[in-house]
Amino acid sequence: MPAFGIHRISHVGLRVSDLEKARLFYVDILGFVEVEKNGDELYLKGVEEGQHHSLVLRKGSEPGLSYIAFRVNSPEDLDRARDYYRSMGLPVSRFSEKGVSDAIAVEDPYGFPLVFYYDMEYTGDLGLKYSQYRGAPPVRLAHVNISLPVRDLDEALRYYIKDLGFILTEYFLGEDGSKHAAWVTSYYKHDSHDVALGKTIGKDPGPGFHHVAYIVPEMRDMVRIADILASLGMWDSIERGPGRHGATRAFYFYIRDPDGIRIELYTGDYVILDPDKWKPIEWRFDQARYRSDFWGRPIPDRWKEIKPVESIVRGGMKPLEGYTSMMPTIRW
Ligand SMILES: [Fe+2]
Repeated sequence: MPAFGIHRISHVGLRVSDLEKARLFYVDILGFVEVEKNGDELYLKGVEEGQHHSLVLRKGSEPGLSYIAFRVNSPEDLDRARDYYRSMGLPVSRFSEKGVSDAIAVEDPYGFPLVFYYDMEYTGDLGLKYSQYRGAPPVRLAHVNISLPVRDLDEALRYYIKDLGFILTEYFLGEDGSKHAAWVTSYYKHDSHDVALGKTIGKDPGPGFHHVAYIVPEMRDMVRIADILASLGMWDSIERGPGRHGATRAFYFYIRDPDGIRIELYTGDYVILDPDKWKPIEWRFDQARYRSDFWGRPIPDRWKEIKPVESIVRGGMKPLEGYTSMMPTIRW
């Protein structure tokens, strides 16, 4: 039994240096729905999301991940979450934001700032109001990709699977035969993943943030965003793709926001109809040519960079020098 019940990944907070520049990028170019601005915070969501928000941009001097938020299954699960993290001696504090009055913020065993809540205000989705769609548009939050400061990813997977109740969908083996990336999904969302887990490799392997991904309606929408970015002279925002992943089978397109934060536009992954029957897909090291890019194209070096994550104890970003193990080390 998991320690408490997680419904799904719900939203993500990012630190950005300039809220107006970020608004231009996320709302005017990509087509996020602007819900409201509250001082130094901007609340956004995709066109299919009825909840108040799924992306919070918070002004800060150093860009990176502010927090990852999950909806729990019941108010009692919020109490269980608080007890679970406290029992491990980890910092837990009360948390609230626009649309969410009762939540907790924790620093998890791998140093990640996580928010848990049960109830968020519902403001409705755009639904059939196609005349208001802009950009891609982003439809809904798909997943986050993070890098854990661990030698052994199996230990972190025990936390995600046994304690938090996620389902392992796929994993990559490194040259040494150990897992160096894994994808986990929540029982209720049960698509390819809510969280992708890599390892931080480097001199100072802290917790790192690789990207947040949003579903777009179809692959053509990735091309539209590439064309819009190029026509604005924002070639440096175009990082990788469009292409198809081997793992997750989805189409991908990685772009960078004005602070260099990586956003993935994503579509076409699978749904697990019977989670109890699922056998995790293993990708061996000798499949590295096509497991990340199914068409076998090399991955740009820049894609291995990760951003720091915020400390819920001190505020500010945790120091980080490292890169993600999601980057295959093979040469071709
Ligand atoms: Fe991704």
